[in-house]
Amino acid sequence: MRVDADDGWIEFLYKPIGTGLAQLAKRAPQEVVSLLGPIGNGFSPDATRPVILAIAGGVGIPPVYFLAEALRAQRHFEPIVLMGSEVPFPFALGARAAPVTELPDTASLTVAQLEEWGIVSALASNAGLEGCYPGHVTQLARRWLDTLPAERLVNVQIVGCGPHAMLRAAAEVARDFDLPCQLAVEEFMACGVGGCAGCIVPLHKPEGVVMKRVCVDGPVFDSRELYPA
Ligand code: FES
Repeated sequence: MRVDADDGWIEFLYKPIGTGLAQLAKRAPQEVVSLLGPIGNGFSPDATRPVILAIAGGVGIPPVYFLAEALRAQRHFEPIVLMGSEVPFPFALGARAAPVTELPDTASLTVAQLEEWGIVSALASNAGLEGCYPGHVTQLARRWLDTLPAERLVNVQIVGCGPHAMLRAAAEVARDFDLPCQLAVEEFMACGVGGCAGCIVPLHKPEGVVMKRVCVDGPVFDSRELYPA
């Protein structure tokens, strides 16, 4: 979720689902664990489209948070981060410092840290969470895109990470607005180094369907190849 190479720390956000993560959750502060990584690719934003609509759902939130912090350092891009969750968000939320007219009034809360960094953020939830747009995060994305004039829309690209249904919906949004879109796929991984082929996804290329490993060939793929029309 976050990294500071100078200070030498990394931060993970995870849900303790399954035996591996349940074991990890039992570790005490200062305990040493071994780690292999980083592996695979990352988001590669298109420099010609400086407005990045970053859509995150559930456990897909950390990579998008990470990207937003990295983009902040680059200064070239203007990210807007939309997050969806059906359980309370696991970090501090806060009020928006200045109104963003393109966002619905119901999405009044922001991620406090992103707001402090000057990054626009908004939240969505179907669980009736206060200050969150009542609906899917991809519906909120659509609402935001609908407000943009054509001359701003051509500067937008989409990135996303979350459950498959959310990714599919994000790909549809990208297709409807004719925007490039990169999606980070979640998949169960046995080896994590490309050896077991347990994490493959079909990609729809012009030459036909090819199978790719999420762990080393991904996790980021073009939305049109993941979810063709
Ligand atoms: S997890 Fe083994 S190939 Fe990806």
